[in-house]
Amino acid sequence: MPSGPHSNVPAGVWDKVGRNLHLQRNHPIQIIKSHIYQYFARSHKDMQGMPLFRTYDEFPPVVTTTQNFDDLLVPKDHPGRRPTDTFYVDQAHVLRTHTSAHQSELLRRGENAFLVTADCYRRDEIDASHYPVFHQMEGVRLFAPSELASFTAEAVLEDLKRTLEGLVRSLLGDVPLRWVDAYFPFTHPSLELEAFFHGSWLEVLGSGVIHTDVLKLCDRTDRIGWAFGIGIERIAMVLFDVPDIRLFWTQDKRFLEQFSDGNISNRFKPFSKYPPVYKDITFWCPPGFHENDFCSAVRDIAGDLVERVQVIDEFTHGKTGRQSRCYRITYRSMERSLTNTEIDELQQNVRTHVSQELRYELR
Ligand code: DAH
Repeated sequence: MPSGPHSNVPAGVWDKVGRNLHLQRNHPIQIIKSHIYQYFARSHKDMQGMPLFRTYDEFPPVVTTTQNFDDLLVPKDHPGRRPTDTFYVDQAHVLRTHTSAHQSELLRRGENAFLVTADCYRRDEIDASHYPVFHQMEGVRLFAPSELASFTAEAVLEDLKRTLEGLVRSLLGDVPLRWVDAYFPFTHPSLELEAFFHGSWLEVLGSGVIHTDVLKLCDRTDRIGWAFGIGIERIAMVLFDVPDIRLFWTQDKRFLEQFSDGNISNRFKPFSKYPPVYKDITFWCPPGFHENDFCSAVRDIAGDLVERVQVIDEFTHGKTGRQSRCYRITYRSMERSLTNTEIDELQQNVRTHVSQELRYELR
């Protein structure tokens, strides 16, 4: 457990390292992963008829800031680098914030087609679809001049679109899809793919033509290619009707027994939902206040019993210019009823931590 002056990894997050839901049999995250691997194995073969894409599942989550940011041309002042957004192990190491952190090392090794699945970590808000640990899959494909009709970004884009539309349809069925312009420092052009599913447009993946400067850093300027990154929880939640991201971490058999390897057509049948308990907390925001620091503290204290943290009131004091915020914390267990005493105790711990450690002035 990292503990130096530059570390901001709480025990509750460090505990998740090594759980590897993407390697757990019959787990929804693993089921989606295997489905995608099989899709690529079927659709892309090498000259010997073997799967073209190599798969990597076991890269450890602590990476250097060079791997996670610099190799990908992320600017030094990018907000994603800040300790409010990223878990630092020490000054030079982070818990990877995305699987893109492994692109460059594999490209340098000379790999041309690969998929990397891994646990990723981000400091974030708290609600049904955000959790400090989640899983992504990275896909990268480089082409030699002979492998494309023309050695141009347009030809790469065309292949990217065809491949990823096929992938998404293999998961979600024959749904409307649309490509949306996006921005990532490491691709140009960059695109997101959205699918119309369950009545709304869902962002499914980020992708693009790999930036020539990334290839330069990897000594691979003889090739051009595409890359994509897909959030697995997000797919699993819509595909299996899983209403809360915390469920992926439960050991409750009533959840786990509803899924089986190779089956992406079943829907999650919720077991009884336990009642929520709401608690409000109001404080003056100190200078440099960042909501992620507050959420991280709540998550740290309440673990998976916290379902949501939302601002319900805020105002700025006319004379002092100080900002006051009231947050509502929703506590709910996925597995059992909570007692008033335990929630009162958690809330008291949150209050104490916030005033003594974070030095927020409670109101
Ligand atoms: N790393 C991006 C993220 O976490 C996703 C992504 C976008 C990956 C574009 C890619 C890519 O490889 O080309 O938001």
